[in-house]
Amino acid sequence: MCGAARAEPVATAPFTVAIDGPAAAGKGTISRAVAGRFGFAHLDTGLLYRAVGAQVLSGVAAVEAARSLDPAALEDPALRTAEVAQAASKVAVIADVRAALLDFQRAFARRAGGAVLDGRDIGTVICPQAEVKLFVTASAEVRAGRRLAELQGRGTDTDFETVLADVRARDARDSDRAEAPLRPAETAFVLDTSEMSVEAAVEAAVAQVAAARA
Ligand code: C5P
Repeated sequence: MCGAARAEPVATAPFTVAIDGPAAAGKGTISRAVAGRFGFAHLDTGLLYRAVGAQVLSGVAAVEAARSLDPAALEDPALRTAEVAQAASKVAVIADVRAALLDFQRAFARRAGGAVLDGRDIGTVICPQAEVKLFVTASAEVRAGRRLAELQGRGTDTDFETVLADVRARDARDSDRAEAPLRPAETAFVLDTSEMSVEAAVEAAVAQVAAARA
């Protein structure tokens, strides 16, 4: 059969990079850079909770919104507002909401060709078997400063104290909840980006992935 065998495309094995951490720690930037560098797909799992939160703000019940979530809704730029972020962290405490979003995330994580997922519970709950687990953090003040710049860059009228209070409220809700609380996985590499440039943080994350691929 050998000579006559048709060449099948070689499916690249799954490879999961789990990137967790608190709001505005730099997970998104690092995740996109890692995905780009290694040719992996990227899923910002915060968008799933934001999409559910946005639905709740428009009157839909949280669990129903999570069960009928359309991945196309994740593209909506309206999901980026502070109001939706707060709504997201409220629906994220509901066990049935988290359960409804589980299969989609796990399937994404094990797709052929590799995947980067960023969120709060990727290394602890969604993909405890991930090949690489990173926990990206920074002080609340540094994160609030970055988020302020991002919001102002999009034309939002806000100030540092408001954004800091928002970051702290979400930290408390994400860390103190019973379901999948925010915490580093036991084997996670912790990257504190408080004093790091974006480039240095990206290179540190890339180095972790490269080491696991070697
Ligand atoms: O990451 P982002 O700030 O967009 O997430 C919005 C909210 O969604 C978070 O504050 C958190 O409550 C929730 N979330 C979560 N688990 C994830 C991702 C986000 O609970 N994996």
